[in-house]
Amino acid sequence: MRRKMHSVFHAREMARRRLPRFVFDFIEGGSLDEQTLRANRAAFEKVTFVPKSLSDVSHREQETRVLGQDIRLPVLLAPVGMTRLVAREGELAVARAAGKKGTVFVVSTASSFSLEEIAKVATGPLWFQLYLGPDRDLNASLVGRASDSGYHALCLAVDTPVLGKRDRDLRSGLTIPPRLGIRNIMDAAWRFSWLFDFLTGPKVVFGNFKDLVPGKSAVTMSAYVNQKIVNPGATWEDLAWLRDLWKRPLLVKGIMSREDAAKAVELGVDGIVVSNHGGRQLDGLPASLHALTEIADAVRDRAEILLDSGICRGSDVVKAVALGARACLVGRAYLWGLASRGEEGVGQILDVLADEIDRTLALIGRGKLSEVDRSAVRIPKAFLS
Ligand SMILES: Cc1cc2nc3c(=O)[nH]c(=O)nc-3n(C[C@H](O)[C@H](O)[C@H](O)COP(=O)(O)O)c2cc1C
Repeated sequence: MRRKMHSVFHAREMARRRLPRFVFDFIEGGSLDEQTLRANRAAFEKVTFVPKSLSDVSHREQETRVLGQDIRLPVLLAPVGMTRLVAREGELAVARAAGKKGTVFVVSTASSFSLEEIAKVATGPLWFQLYLGPDRDLNASLVGRASDSGYHALCLAVDTPVLGKRDRDLRSGLTIPPRLGIRNIMDAAWRFSWLFDFLTGPKVVFGNFKDLVPGKSAVTMSAYVNQKIVNPGATWEDLAWLRDLWKRPLLVKGIMSREDAAKAVELGVDGIVVSNHGGRQLDGLPASLHALTEIADAVRDRAEILLDSGICRGSDVVKAVALGARACLVGRAYLWGLASRGEEGVGQILDVLADEIDRTLALIGRGKLSEVDRSAVRIPKAFLS
């Protein structure tokens, strides 16, 4: 029997062995000097627990409800583009694993399979993450397709007016469709199982824009995304337009200040994802955990708050819940699982996080996730508004 992954960091090591360097770096990298990337992990170490001893934690519950949907653990799978680069079945494997483990998968605009293909294999709830591109008709058509395919919620990413500059991808020359230059070929040649999947599996494309992808000329990934998928001209008026168009739950992802959170709530969003995009967009932002309390205080119960960026442990999730998040999203954590073991690997990552959340709840003396509040942690002064 194959050895199970015992932690997210274990999965990362396995992914490092299976993937060529340019794919590993695509997952791992942040923007510019990666200060925000590092700050995300460091923030979780600054928040410490205050346990309640001898408080009968023999029965424990971590199920919760997000935007009207019950999930078995307070962890959702974040929207991630181009997962076909990471594993043969990309988002199809992620959707199946999410359904089996009872949580939500948020499908990216930049997914490598189309949102319809993903909906067809999904057995659990799906949300759709939208990038507002420059063409409003195309935006409206994506929203219509998500609605027709039964997506429960729409999640507008507001932190990507342009793509962040990621030196690692520029160095490796990541293109769409991917072309293996000499250096990448030499590296990939040793990663037999990845190379086999890459050469024999479905082509790596942006699944939702199959007709738009340039067939012959490879452009660098960031140039393609900047031209077609994101729009520096987007404003709050576009959010109001979207609110009108989409009648189901609407979230904004990438909010990092109380002012932006308040504006979004005034425009009628149902949820806010406090996120710095895992340190891949604006370098110089604080950790998302750092921004959480001021946003939670500003929003109170007018919208549900989720958090991502830097989550690698179940205890990180419990800390975020203590500071005001309903649940968390993970990105890299499940990508490492996907890279190592496909669908099974994503499932194992969710099991690992659920186990760590369960043990943390017991150790801090709060049997139920709903009992976790700020009394469960010591919060550094800098995190308080
Ligand atoms: C390889 C990769 C691709 C991503 N693609 C998208 C995307 O297409 N849309 C989006 O809103 N966020 C995207 N993100 C950001 C994630 O949704 C999420 O905010 C981030 O990964 C959370 O940080 P973590 O990776 O430390 O968990 C991407 C992240 C990674 C690592």
